[in-house]
Order: sequence, then structure tokens, then C-alpha cells
Amino acid sequence: MKILGISGSLRQTSHNTQLLRVAADLLPPGTELEIFDGLDEVPPFNEDDERAPPPRVVELKARVREADAILIATPEYNYSVPGVLKNAIDWASRPYGDNVWDGKPAALMGASPGSQGTARAQYHLRQSFVFLNMYPLNQPEVMISNASQRFDGQGHLTDEGLRTRIRQLLEALVAWTRRLRTES
Ligand SMILES: Cc1cc2nc3c(=O)[nH]c(=O)nc-3n(C[C@H](O)[C@H](O)[C@H](O)COP(=O)(O)O)c2cc1C
Repeated sequence: MKILGISGSLRQTSHNTQLLRVAADLLPPGTELEIFDGLDEVPPFNEDDERAPPPRVVELKARVREADAILIATPEYNYSVPGVLKNAIDWASRPYGDNVWDGKPAALMGASPGSQGTARAQYHLRQSFVFLNMYPLNQPEVMISNASQRFDGQGHLTDEGLRTRIRQLLEALVAWTRRLRTES
């Protein structure tokens, strides 16, 4: 089973990108996780170009298509989804009729220095998933507050409870993806 990981942060020492790397070490057997690292080269969406998208968007769409499931790790910006992530989601949903997110199982996680642990960004993403026709996993929710206290100076996640939570999220995503496949 192939999972595509997408981080909503371009920051070099991003906690959210680091969460995807942690997830790569906690995968259930028979599962692989690739991280899409080209979000910084995705230009602002322009509907005039949606039928001839730029190369990074072509790549993103191909990799989403190939993936059995999507894992998004995102910060929260101004109580919502970071623009770079929403922009990439919009590109890959177009042109109308070629929405690569359609029918994809997805799991969410996020880390922020604040007390709400990206809850608002995650729920805004879930709202977009309705129109994209994605199938987000409901539980467990991975919303990491006070992020700087959960990582050491090298960016390693030091909180064992959170590692367990991420492992459970991955197991649930794999089970959810299998279930959707069986039923379709
Ligand atoms: C434009 C902007 C808006 C932000 N808004 C929020 C917010 O609404 N809620 C929050 O918890 N953190 C907010 N933050 C702080 C981010 O969560 C913080 O920068 C976080 O470390 C980014 O995640 P990263 O480590 O993956 O880059 C904001 C940061 C920026 C740059």
C-alpha cells in the first residue's frame, strides 16, 4: 500500500514535515510512505492555465493518482489551512472532471506552538474534502499543541505517547483504505 505524504509547511525545520518523517518510521508492514517535497515550486493557481498545468502540478497529480491513500501534516495559519497547501489542493482538483483527490482515503495530523494543535485548519480541510469527494479518516485525531516542547533541538519527536498516536493513525488509515477498496 502506497501513502503519499504532503506537508503544509515549506519551513526547513518544519515540525509538520518532521511528523511525516516520523510516520515513515512507524508504518504497518506492507506499507510505504513517500513525501511530496515540491510544494514550494507550485505557482499560484490560475484557472487560465488549468488545462496546461505547470510541471510540479503535473507531478503532484500523477503522484496523488498513484497513491492508495493521502497523509497530510499541516500547521494552522490564521485559523485555517496554509495557502501553499490549499493552492496545491486546488490545482490538483482541476480542470473540472479531472479531480485527482476524488475517492482518495486521507488522514490528517498537525502540530502548532499554540494550544489548539491545528484543529481549525484540520476541520477546514475536512470541509474541502466534502467537495473533493475524499474519504477522511475520522479517528484518531492527531492535533499536537505546544509543538516546541514535543521535539528536541534536532527536531526529533520526543513524546512517546504521540509516536503511539501516529502509529495508531497509520494503522487506522491502512485498515480504512482496505475497507474502502473491498466495498468499491
Ligand atoms: C501566517 C501565520 C499564521 C499563523 N497562524 C496560526 C494559527 O492560526 N494558529 C496556530 O496555532 N499557529 C499559527 N501560526 C504559527 C504556526 O503554527 C507555526 O509557525 C508553526 O510552527 C508552523 O508549522 P511548521 O513548524 O510545520 O512550519 C501561524 C504562523 C504563520 C506564519
